Amino acid sequence: MPDLNTTMDKIVSLAKRRGFVFQSSEIYGGQSGAWDYGPMGVELKNRIARFWWKEMTQLHDDIVGLDAAILMHPRVWEASGHVENFTDPLVDCKKCKTRFRADQIDPDKLARKVCPDCGGELTDTRKFNLMFKTNIGPVDDGTGLIYLRPETAQGIYVNFRNIVQSNRMKIPFGIAQIGKAFRNEIVTKNFIFRTCEFEQMEMQYFVKPGEDEKFFEYWKAQRWAYYEKLGIRMDRLRWHRHGPDELAHYAKDAYDIEYEFPMGFKELEGVHNRTNFDLTRHQQFSGKDLQYIDQDNGNERYLPYIIETSAGLTRQLLMVLCDAYDEQKVADKGTDDDFRTVLHMHPVLAPVTVAVLPLMKKDGLAELAQGIRNELKEEYSTDYDQSGAIGRRYRRQDEIGTPYCVTIDYQTKEDRTVTVRDRDTMAQDRVSAAELPNHLRAKIKAYKRV
Ligand code: GAP
Repeated sequence: MPDLNTTMDKIVSLAKRRGFVFQSSEIYGGQSGAWDYGPMGVELKNRIARFWWKEMTQLHDDIVGLDAAILMHPRVWEASGHVENFTDPLVDCKKCKTRFRADQIDPDKLARKVCPDCGGELTDTRKFNLMFKTNIGPVDDGTGLIYLRPETAQGIYVNFRNIVQSNRMKIPFGIAQIGKAFRNEIVTKNFIFRTCEFEQMEMQYFVKPGEDEKFFEYWKAQRWAYYEKLGIRMDRLRWHRHGPDELAHYAKDAYDIEYEFPMGFKELEGVHNRTNFDLTRHQQFSGKDLQYIDQDNGNERYLPYIIETSAGLTRQLLMVLCDAYDEQKVADKGTDDDFRTVLHMHPVLAPVTVAVLPLMKKDGLAELAQGIRNELKEEYSTDYDQSGAIGRRYRRQDEIGTPYCVTIDYQTKEDRTVTVRDRDTMAQDRVSAAELPNHLRAKIKAYKRV
């Protein structure tokens, strides 16, 4: 009997085998800290992003979107505090050349400067800035220094005034953004959990000073409810409040939502009370007045406080894979076929929503199936598979999390009915082909994690 525990190795292997995630530049030996999203991975990533975007913008009347540039004026990162403070403590082993984050090795070994891997001598601890630097313009003499953004948030702060003016936003309101961020992480491990290139989904909510604590609690509750809607096993989530030594330089209070990954509970997203730190600094560094004028309140002027919800898109994708992954015994024949690997992800996230499978290629069943697939295409992402035994085809779809398999058989020829197999229960319903879109719509709406 196989080991039925979910491990990161199994997730990595499935992700590669089924086209979710590949190592970057694999044919050259790989590039650490970077990953490529294959045909299934890009669909899953886009669907998570769409779910988050809908949740934040469509379902919150007071939140608007933004897509700011990755390259920003270098002064932004001085104002934000990243040039000075966005550092990790670093040590190198003089013997084996391994690099460590000083805060992640045994304090006793660090004090004695002993390498945890080979026992060699460690260098002194030094601060290492996580921002990637590059050069803009044709001359590389330092005058064109530019950073790859380490968080998407700053693009929102520098556009605060533009958005208030162009969209006549009234406080409290939020700005949401999804985009790439880059960090020169010293240790990248656990697959796509911590990478140098990743994507964030951030929302900055601007509030009147004094109302920040109320809205901080509101956004904590909203973000918790989001994971419930996403169909995540809630007993695998927990809150972690940052202690004084963990708080980022901008934060007055911060909570992480942590998920129990195969390697233990780890940060999934953060909810931060950033006070008016960011707008105060940008006002100071840019010389532009960034105060909000409250026209409904005697033109009162103030720099708003900011409540931030900051989630990693690529990290959320890893969480969805870990949460969905399951190995089940489904038969008792004493062969490998007794087990199936299945991804129980929410149907709105599944890369393929409906797979259409003719029982046989012959006797006109393939043509009938292709016709039904064409009818479903406009509304759903579909797959078509006519090769191999039907049981094997179901297993292939289970592995990529396809929630519904529609099978076309000889009865379909007679009465235009098909069977719909449910991924989670493996139960099959016979429905008329004409009713299929409605049937699927109702099933998706009623979806509950089993
Ligand atoms: N704007 C606030 C901010 O960036 P953070 O806690 O540094 O806060 C927010 O990052 C989220 O971004 C994290 O909870 C995580 O999901 C994701 N994230 C951060 N660094 C990451 C990395 N190196 N690789 C993948 N995701 C990362």
